[in-house]
Amino acid sequence: MVRVGIIGLGFMGTAHFGYYSANPKARIVALCDRIEARREGDFSGIGGNLSTGGGSGVDLSKVASYSDPAKLIADPNVDLVDICLPTDLHAKWAIAALKAGKHVINEKPMALTPADCSKVAAAAAAAKGYYMVAQCIRFWPEYAVAKEMVASGKLGKLKTIMLERVANTPRYSVENWLQDHQRSGGATFDLHVHDIDYANYLAGVPSYVSAVGIKGPSGGFDHMSAHLVYPKGVVAFVRGGWTYPNKWAFEMAFTIECEKGTLHWRMTSGQPLQLIADTGIETPKVPEGNGWSLELKYLVDCIASRKRPTIATAKTSRDAIRVVEAEVKSASANGKAIKLGK
Ligand SMILES: NC(=O)c1ccc[n+]([C@@H]2O[C@H](COP(=O)([O-])OP(=O)(O)OC[C@H]3O[C@@H](n4cnc5c(N)ncnc54)[C@H](O)[C@@H]3O)[C@@H](O)[C@H]2O)c1
Repeated sequence: MVRVGIIGLGFMGTAHFGYYSANPKARIVALCDRIEARREGDFSGIGGNLSTGGGSGVDLSKVASYSDPAKLIADPNVDLVDICLPTDLHAKWAIAALKAGKHVINEKPMALTPADCSKVAAAAAAAKGYYMVAQCIRFWPEYAVAKEMVASGKLGKLKTIMLERVANTPRYSVENWLQDHQRSGGATFDLHVHDIDYANYLAGVPSYVSAVGIKGPSGGFDHMSAHLVYPKGVVAFVRGGWTYPNKWAFEMAFTIECEKGTLHWRMTSGQPLQLIADTGIETPKVPEGNGWSLELKYLVDCIASRKRPTIATAKTSRDAIRVVEAEVKSASANGKAIKLGK
């Protein structure tokens, strides 16, 4: 049994609460939030851009409740610390939990700068516990199946990647921290980073990045469109942002072109994942669940079977932050190409 403590009970923390509660290999033993009602189990009025299935109404009488993350981290009953705090707090508490010998998952983005990511990565490398970043798109059923199909080589060489993620402006976060780019990185770090991480999952680390974007309500780049040049001639076109109006329905989509077929999925179309070839269209089967439930199941299974997680590591998550940081540099210089080092 993996004993879980969750720090931060907003949109993501309460979603994670629901998925651990439904997992027979996990047990929630501690909760932490500054808001008393939330740590006592009142999850009313918590918002987000997709329905998560996060549960309430669970008996919390045997679950420890803390207002201070340090106290949850020090709780000897906790094996896995799940950090769902605002992004500017990820690095500090991930390092503290790793130093305390816990397994750690922290929400994406890993941190707001490559330098902070490096500090977390160093703590993870020296730690007894495992470390993973909640880059849930690597686990989202359609995206995970597309990755498997590309990696299998059956579709021939990967050629182009188109990824899109667009939302209305999120206003639900506590203290509206999402709309303060100093705390969230704006939509580039908070939303678009999902697709950058996925493009890297398919193609490696880009050699060159160029991007254009507009600044929005967070004060940072809240709508970004990037061209990424990867090794072996793969190119990616990735667009994401949260500047659309309130009535805009959240959208994510991909088109992945390989020599022998093109994989296509658009969430709002209601159509299944398609493999489109000259000879016909197939609809590959995808697993049940969503990226959040499947990522947490993967981590709990890794801990229960003592296998270090190999998907969404400190290195790959830091690489995603290096790319979005390069995009901000490029967009600040009218799309100038930025070369990415090792
Ligand atoms: N993987 C995804 O699809 C996804 C989706 C949304 C958010 N996220 C990420 O999850 C993280 C949390 O975002 P959210 O949308 O849940 O935000 P939120 O504002 O809904 O929740 C944050 C919670 O943290 C609590 N908190 C803040 N500072 C605290 C402190 N010092 N000590 C204790 N509690 C504190 C707040 O009271 C709040 O309940 C962010 O990093 C965000 O980028 C990921």
